[in-house]
Order: sequence, then C-alpha cells, then structure tokens
Amino acid sequence: MRKIAVIGVGRMGSKHAANLAAGRVKGAFLACVCDTDKAARKRAERLKVPAYEDYKEMAEAEKLDAVVVATPHYSHVEIAKFFLLRGIAVLTEKPVSVTVEWAQELNEVAKNSGALFGIMYNQRTNRVYARVRELVKTGKLGAIRRASVTVTDWYRSQVYYDMGNWRASWSGEGGGTLINQCVHQLDLMQWILGMPESVQASCRTVNRKISTENEVLANFAYKDFNVVFTASAHEVPGVNMTEIAGDRGLIRAGKFKAKIYLLENDEAQINAKSTRDYGNKRDKKYKKYTVRYGLINLIRDGLYGQQCNILNDFVHCMNTGERLLAPGEEGINGLMLINAVYASDWSGKKMTLPIDGKAYTAALRAHAAEEKNKGGC
Ligand SMILES: NC(=O)c1ccc[n+]([C@@H]2O[C@H](COP(=O)([O-])OP(=O)(O)OC[C@H]3O[C@@H](n4cnc5c(N)ncnc54)[C@H](O)[C@@H]3O)[C@@H](O)[C@H]2O)c1
Repeated sequence: MRKIAVIGVGRMGSKHAANLAAGRVKGAFLACVCDTDKAARKRAERLKVPAYEDYKEMAEAEKLDAVVVATPHYSHVEIAKFFLLRGIAVLTEKPVSVTVEWAQELNEVAKNSGALFGIMYNQRTNRVYARVRELVKTGKLGAIRRASVTVTDWYRSQVYYDMGNWRASWSGEGGGTLINQCVHQLDLMQWILGMPESVQASCRTVNRKISTENEVLANFAYKDFNVVFTASAHEVPGVNMTEIAGDRGLIRAGKFKAKIYLLENDEAQINAKSTRDYGNKRDKKYKKYTVRYGLINLIRDGLYGQQCNILNDFVHCMNTGERLLAPGEEGINGLMLINAVYASDWSGKKMTLPIDGKAYTAALRAHAAEEKNKGGC
C-alpha cells in the first residue's frame, strides 16, 4: 500500500484527503496531512491521521511514497521540488506553476529525479473529451478547419474571491479565472488539438473587486485554423461548449455529452461533385450520434469528484510504470497558453509561441508589485 500525504487541506485538498482516507484510491492510503493554517489542521482531525504544520518536518517524520500538493499556485513548484529531490512521487494540483519558466525548471528536477510527477488535470478523465480527442487524433474528423471553446459556466461571486486573500491576485494566484478555472479547458484544447502558433487576447474585470480578470477573449492561431476562446466567471447561466469543425464533420461537445456529425464525403469531394451553387444535398449526408458521460460515471464523479480518478491513475502508474493520463510535464503547455494570453493582453500584441519564459516572469512580478502599491494582496 502506498503511503500518501496531502499538503494543503483547504477546499480541494480536503477532498483528496477524504478520498484517500475512505479507501477510494486503490493501493494507497492517507498517511498524514499538512497545512500551515491551524483551523484547516483542526478540520482535518476527523481524518484521524497526523496533521503537520510544516511539510519539511512532515518529510522528516514520515516515510512517504507520494504527496499531493493542493496549496495556492505560487507554492506548487517549491513544494514539488522539495519532494522530487528526495525521490518522492508528486501529484500537483493545477496549474503546475504561475510562470512557464518555473514550470520548466520543475520539470527538469522531475526528469532528473526519476520520481513520478503528475498533474491534477481531472477533466481528461471525462470520456466525452477522451472520445473527442480520439476522433481528432485518428483523423476521423478530417483536417481541422476551425474551433471554438466557450466556457462561461465557472460562475464565481465576490464571496468566493473574499474567501482567500490569494485569490484573483497577481501576487497570490498569478492570474484570475484563466489560470484558476480555465486552465482545465486550455489543457483540453491542447490535448485535443495540439499547441497553437500564436495568440492575440484581451482580458477584462467585470463587476468584481479583484485585480485580475474574470473575462477573456482570445484567438489562438494554428497553422491551418483558428480557435476562438471565450471565458467568463460572471455570467449566469453560462455555457460550456467546444465546437470543432473538420472537413469530414463536426463535433459539438459539452461537459456531459458530445454530438458528432461525420460526413460520408469530405468537403473536397462535396465541392468536386457539386452541380449546384450551394452544393448537392445528396453529397452532404452525414451520420449523427451522441457520446455521453455515462450514468455510473456521473454518479461516481458527482459523489467523489473526477479528481479521485486521477488519484487512482497516479497510484496505478506508480505500481505499474505505465504512462500517466496527465503527466506533470504536460502542465507546461496549458501554462504556456495562459502566460501568452496575459502577455498579449498586457502588451496589446500578438504573442508567438513559445513565449520567452523569463520575460513573462519579469512582467508578472511587475504586475504583482503594482498591485501591492495599490494596496492589493
Ligand atoms: N482540480 C480541480 O478541479 C481544482 C478545484 C479547486 C481548486 N484546485 C486547485 O487546488 C489548489 C488549492 O485550491 P483551494 O481552492 O483548495 O485553496 P484553499 O485556499 O481552499 O486551500 C489551500 C490550503 O493550502 C494551505 N497552505 C498554503 N500554503 C501552504 C504551505 N506552504 N504548506 C501547507 N499548506 C499550505 C492553506 O492554509 C489552505 O488551507 C489550487 O492549486 C487550485 O487551483 C483544483
């Protein structure tokens, strides 16, 4: 049985700890937790494991196989490095870091350590997105022509932002809705479509007292197509929709189901066969079907969270040496997209990828310093 600790038992970490403590992660158990906050440690007493204030003391006192890092974003790299350097496996919450420069440094440490390093990209466990990815990667959708990702269903009230002084600040969180919530959708975008060549973006803050954005509009340019990305955390009821059009069909994917339209002829054939100005109806025929999340998956994930699937995959790969569903190094891609969006918003310019990591870190620091001068976090 793998001995696992959870570091940071706030909103998310307490769920990871509860899943481990309840035996929902096959082959592992919760050995202890760690949190700098006394009240969080007190709340964790019900788990009946030791609760440490300092993760370094915890590492001295316990012989651990792995840690789950669920602390605020800026601390992920420092904590993950500490354990990887001691050969202890690390599963870190998203985002892997706040700057791509630090994420790359962490990945070097992980590579050299040989210890398993994973990231909590739990949305990759959603079979709807896995099927969409398969259709794109196997070429069934044909060459991609355009895509759009609209994610406006991460509603966050002022109460949410006031719950922790690190939230929605440049110095505490390294960004707003993009780095916290939308990191999942950007990971899915690059997981399914690969990385774009450039981005032009603009961000806004609407109706909240926060220093970072809660609305984003970005155009990701790929070699042969564009992805229009729209996100907000102030809209009700909100939408979560990914649309991908290829020359063999169309996918419209929400969180719980995807509608798939696969053409009998690809668009070049439809055009070649056309005897009419709008094309021939008989040549435009398609098969239509739906991919669903699945009732059992829906109930299980509703009760324990998708994150429990990633925990299970992590322990499974620790034991078998198989490739993780969400390897830590893939955390760099989503973060690269996020940093590029912010850099484009700040400069008003189109950013070519990969961006200069060091320059971005310097720009983020400048934003954090300016925020402090204005009396922020
Ligand atoms: N995967 C998901 O779906 C998901 C959902 C929510 C949050 N998250 C991620 O989880 C992480 C935590 O978010 P949250 O909402 O739980 O925040 P939170 O503020 O509720 O909890 C963070 C906890 O970490 C503790 N902490 C801070 N620094 C620490 C340190 N150095 N050592 C030990 N403990 C420390 C804090 O005291 C707090 O209890 C973030 O990276 C966030 O993006 C992921």
